[in-house]
Amino acid sequence: MRMRKKSHGNERRALLSNLTVSTTEGFFEKVEEIYGNNKPLRIEIGCGKGDFIRGKSVQEPDYNYLAIEKIDDVCVLAVENYAKSRGLGDLAKNGGWERPNGEIYPLGSEPIEFTKEEMGNVRFMVGDAKMLLPNIPDNAVDAIYVNFCDPWSKKGHTKRRLTYIEFLKMYSRILVPGGTFNFKTDNRPLFDFSLEEVEKSPFTLEYHTFDLHNSEMDATNIRTEYERNFSAKGFSINMLIAKNNK
Ligand SMILES: C[S@@+](CC[C@H](N)C(=O)[O-])C[C@H]1O[C@@H](n2cnc3c(N)ncnc32)[C@H](O)[C@@H]1O
Repeated sequence: MRMRKKSHGNERRALLSNLTVSTTEGFFEKVEEIYGNNKPLRIEIGCGKGDFIRGKSVQEPDYNYLAIEKIDDVCVLAVENYAKSRGLGDLAKNGGWERPNGEIYPLGSEPIEFTKEEMGNVRFMVGDAKMLLPNIPDNAVDAIYVNFCDPWSKKGHTKRRLTYIEFLKMYSRILVPGGTFNFKTDNRPLFDFSLEEVEKSPFTLEYHTFDLHNSEMDATNIRTEYERNFSAKGFSINMLIAKNNK
């Protein structure tokens, strides 16, 4: 995702830093404290501006969600969009944050305190999944979502794809037995590659479609920003669900 540098991105993120988790270190020991409950945890890798995770957290509220995004200026938009969707306020004219009661937190203020109820069931983490996932303990996650990841089409870049076998093995390790890996892409060569990788992996393919928007799964599908863009350009959307059979 290409982004112009967000003005005051760091200070904006700092204001809403109670909605973010800075590192996987210690996170899994404190999950219950962070979310205020012990619901199963789901992860999205590459959340972009957060459309999917916002939708999913409402559609299936009996889970906690961790959205991982490697570009900090993209992640700040995801956090702000989520905060707006929870009715926690909006960007203030001065670039700070304005609570619905009119209280303004200028840039540079201390992080805004929210109650657990206000923060709901989503937290965000800035970082590269490749570096973060190895720190996640075995069997810690109920489901993993990857939506419209970079296809890394060039020869020699195969190992960077988030559906490369080594990633799938890592997903299998951190997922509970029976947990699911859920993947969507407009890119057919990447999708075909991913189906082959799943075949070699500890996962069993449960479901796949080459045309999600004309399938029975569309009724519950949450369209992401990239999904809407590619679909509008006439690309059909591929989707697979694979079950962890370790
Ligand atoms: C093409 S965008 C799709 C965004 C969103 N999922 C959607 O469907 O609208 C891919 C996003 O994944 C992020 N990303 C790519 N590789 C990642 C990785 N290894 N770890 C975390 N985020 C990653 C990128 O920074 C980018 O924001």
